[in-house]
Amino acid sequence: MGYTPVCKQKILYEGELVPCRAEGHELLIMWPDGGQPRAFDAACPHEDVSLARGVFNGRTLICIAHGWVFDGRTGAGLSPTGCEMTEYPMRIVDGMVEVELPD
Ligand code: FES
Repeated sequence: MGYTPVCKQKILYEGELVPCRAEGHELLIMWPDGGQPRAFDAACPHEDVSLARGVFNGRTLICIAHGWVFDGRTGAGLSPTGCEMTEYPMRIVDGMVEVELPD
């Protein structure tokens, strides 16, 4: 499957998270302080509550449902460890953010 446009590059800012939807998937583009923007599925690996409404401070993302904490650079679980957000390949083409979504 190819890449799908999900949002404009100009709405991304370092230290912020942008929720978006494409082809039935709820996603978030997370740009950590000092890092690069990356695309993740919005479903929390705990019980699938949307992380698009989570609390992101530029370093960590906290799920509002039960407080699991994720590394904003990698999507890896920090509390608890041993889990991770699902990442999708992402690229920027002609000012558009494109994500390679699963079938
Ligand atoms: S659903 Fe995210 S911490 Fe429970």
